[in-house]
Amino acid sequence: MRVLVVDEEQGAPPDHWSAIAEHTVRGRALRFGLAEAADTAFDPAADHNREYVLARVRAFSLNYRDTALALGEHAEGTHDRGRGFGSDFVAEVAATGSAVRGLRPGDRVIPSMDWPPRPGDTVSAGVVTNTASRELQRVHHSRLVPVPTAMSDAQAASFSIGAQTAYAMLRRAEVGRDTTVLVTAATSMTSLFAISAACGRGARVYCLSRSGRGADLLAELGVVRSFDPNDPADLKDLARLARQIRGFDAVVDPFCDAYVLTAVKLIGFNGHYVTCRLMGGPHDEMAGTDTPGGHWLSMLTSLVSKNATIHGQCLGVRADLEAALGDWDAGRLRVVVDSEFSGADIGPFVRRTFDPARLGKAAYVFGDRDHDEYPERDDTTKGA
Ligand SMILES: NC(=O)c1ccc[n+]([C@@H]2O[C@H](COP(=O)([O-])OP(=O)(O)OC[C@H]3O[C@@H](n4cnc5c(N)ncnc54)[C@H](OP(=O)(O)O)[C@@H]3O)[C@@H](O)[C@H]2O)c1
Repeated sequence: MRVLVVDEEQGAPPDHWSAIAEHTVRGRALRFGLAEAADTAFDPAADHNREYVLARVRAFSLNYRDTALALGEHAEGTHDRGRGFGSDFVAEVAATGSAVRGLRPGDRVIPSMDWPPRPGDTVSAGVVTNTASRELQRVHHSRLVPVPTAMSDAQAASFSIGAQTAYAMLRRAEVGRDTTVLVTAATSMTSLFAISAACGRGARVYCLSRSGRGADLLAELGVVRSFDPNDPADLKDLARLARQIRGFDAVVDPFCDAYVLTAVKLIGFNGHYVTCRLMGGPHDEMAGTDTPGGHWLSMLTSLVSKNATIHGQCLGVRADLEAALGDWDAGRLRVVVDSEFSGADIGPFVRRTFDPARLGKAAYVFGDRDHDEYPERDDTTKGA
């Protein structure tokens, strides 16, 4: 099987690596490659596999958390980047254990990133794998969800973490028809899912975006207006708008370190503020612009005076992912795929993944680029 691997070695790469590409991430020169590895062993008749599935990954994409995995920043012994990395994937069921019901060889599935863990359930632990780029995965059947036939591999490989988290955030913030929502970091993958889903259910969605680079896409998704957090005139307009509408019903914020103080003050009575921010590793820098110590009390005062609620949200539950897939199937949700790579294009894939100009996900598809079997619905948006 193939697997995307990374190291920091100089000189000749190992013989089993191909499509080698160098790229600097957070100031560290990394070497990426597609390695050949021994197939994952799987005996469908074995008792220890009775609830497990052998899944053949068709495509994968990388996330904020994969940066730390690629840089080898996890505690020693917890992750070997030489065995691969990656979090999101779409796979085809290759074989099933004897007690697996509801999944059959040939089904296309994505991982369900369930959180929090359920007591007594030893397989419900967040992100399903840290090595999504390994072509053959042994996965507990309960962690896999079938995807609609019309969804392309690139779209499906871009789905789980972003969609499941965004849907959980909207659930916590009680976003529905006619809710007024402010979404920060508008061009982050999490926010693009949140914006598309909120607009799809009839909410009035405004957003904050530092770069402003997704203006056309955001308007297409249904955003009423996008504000620049670095433009004082825009911030005044946003405050005026918040007064007019008696505050936002909900703020969805993937970067609380940048936005929490600003955002909480814009919430209305009984409003909700929800963030999913997790540091991606020890060297992930705090955005820092919105968290000077002295302002916390003023933020909390604002929160208390409005009976508003702050929610922390990590990933989601299976129902969030199923709701997102259902909305996609019904045409109420878009998956923004920036670009798709395959074959020897590891270099272009890695460079685009870490490119700040990327708008939506970069996906790597194993095998050929022939998608006739899963015709691509026309909601893929290419980045600049
Ligand atoms: N806990 C969980 O389960 C979970 C799941 C998913 C995501 N997350 C969190 O959500 C964050 C976003 O993840 P993602 O994969 O959606 O990100 P992403 O797609 O890589 O987001 C990049 C975008 O976010 C904005 N941005 C980047 N750095 C920023 C900063 N320091 N301050 C303010 N805005 C910034 C920019 O948007 P604009 O130019 O439009 O402002 C940028 O285009 C991660 O840091 C992670 O902590 C957590």
